[in-house]
Amino acid sequence: MIKFDIKDYPNATLLDHPLLKHKITLLRDKNTKTNEFKLLVKEISILEGYEALRNLETYETEIDTPVEKTIQPLVKRNKLCFVPILRAGLGMADGLAELLPGSTFGHIGLYRDEVTHEPVEYYCKLPSDIENKDVYLLDPMLATGGSAIDAVKMLRKHGVKKITFICIIAAPEGVKAFCEKNPDIPLYIGSLDRELNKNAYICPGLGDCGDRIFGTTNK
Ligand code: PRP
Ligand code: URA
Repeated sequence: MIKFDIKDYPNATLLDHPLLKHKITLLRDKNTKTNEFKLLVKEISILEGYEALRNLETYETEIDTPVEKTIQPLVKRNKLCFVPILRAGLGMADGLAELLPGSTFGHIGLYRDEVTHEPVEYYCKLPSDIENKDVYLLDPMLATGGSAIDAVKMLRKHGVKKITFICIIAAPEGVKAFCEKNPDIPLYIGSLDRELNKNAYICPGLGDCGDRIFGTTNK
């Protein structure tokens, strides 16, 4: 176990709503089947999104209520873009799409090499004006931090200036690595777990998140 105190990383926010804790416990349970797992990832992402999107920019617009005309705020939807890291991030994208329908999505494809645990890039499709958008990067698992750190590099290469990262379960090793490289990026965490095991899996964690969302495991 590494020496770790989340207070040393002011850009990291550990969320602690009881509903979030409840749903993450259900998510971890190995008896939770694919359909329920997918639904929980979506619900958890909505709960986390509610906190992480607190500083969304709004603009004033005139509408008619049944009673009178009024000027009211709406979110500047075209200013933001959600970017899930494939595959597991797609489960979170479903939640954010529900929270803010009509939003723009980019996609980054990374997988961890099973031996080295290093991320391997295989896909990147971002909106053409991504450099003008505030990006919310989505991946349920922050283990070594390699995938998230690489995804941030890819976004920066495309000119993105403002990034927020939302994950569901994080290992201290991943938080440390991510925050040391990106002290300017707000990081929202649903649960901070104990440590990584020798296969770089999060303990107690939930196993392989992509496999559990897409039913590609027979374990
Ligand atoms: C998982 C997860 C992250 C990565 C985290 O993806 O969704 O992207 O591992 O690990 P890291 O912090 O050590 O980089 P995986 O490589 O299993 O790909 P998948 O989503 O396609 O299953
Ligand atoms: N990726 C996962 O899906 N789970 C882990 O525990 C670590 C990385």
